[in-house]
Amino acid sequence: MKIIAIVAISIDGKIAINSHHSSDWTSPEDKIFLHNLLDNSNVVIVGNNTYKNAIKPLSKRKCIVFTNSVDTILKKSDNLVYCNPQNIKLSDLIRDYEIVALLGGTQTYTYFLKNNLIDELFITIEPLIFGKGLSIFDCADEKPNRFQLLSVKKLNNSGSLLLHYKNENHSANFKKL
Ligand SMILES: NC(=O)c1ccc[n+]([C@@H]2O[C@H](COP(=O)([O-])OP(=O)(O)OC[C@H]3O[C@@H](n4cnc5c(N)ncnc54)[C@H](OP(=O)(O)O)[C@@H]3O)[C@@H](O)[C@H]2O)c1
Repeated sequence: MKIIAIVAISIDGKIAINSHHSSDWTSPEDKIFLHNLLDNSNVVIVGNNTYKNAIKPLSKRKCIVFTNSVDTILKKSDNLVYCNPQNIKLSDLIRDYEIVALLGGTQTYTYFLKNNLIDELFITIEPLIFGKGLSIFDCADEKPNRFQLLSVKKLNNSGSLLLHYKNENHSANFKKL
């Protein structure tokens, strides 16, 4: 099992202006990359804010949605499971999936970073500035998490850049996607 975080950020390092901001600002090339990666993933994990912002596109995918509104796990359909990661062993829920796509937002990326669960990270830097907003992660961790850069790709002539990292401390059998 491999957990891949997928993020689009502005030049100033923001993933959204606020929790209700949709991701309609990403480039067409990044959307193609994202959809290909999701097609190759077995399940998507998102926080409830991100899920509510993107119910329509996410309803086509198998999703695990983080929320405090359930005690443990609530299976809504074959494609939709709500879970409260505080009260379950997350590994039991995802261990049968080969590729887990972690789609954010900030609170959810942060949970995975704090628990050292991110194996790979794809970051697309889009050439725009919000000037304020949500960062990818929100935790003042004493110890930096080190990642190793695997590749950089220019996605288009506007300058959208796709960076691919792997967690230096994980020995997962990653492959370039
Ligand atoms: N640019 C990008 O690549 C990208 C990617 C993803 C999302 N986004 C954006 O990010 C924004 C949302 O980020 P966000 O940080 O506000 O929200 P989020 O992580 O999407 O969702 C937060 C919600 O998820 C649940 N949750 C998260 N962590 C939990 C935990 N450890 N235990 C229990 N429940 C947990 C809670 O739901 P309940 O309130 O139900 O308890 C919490 O209120 C949106 O604007 C979205 O569009 C951008």
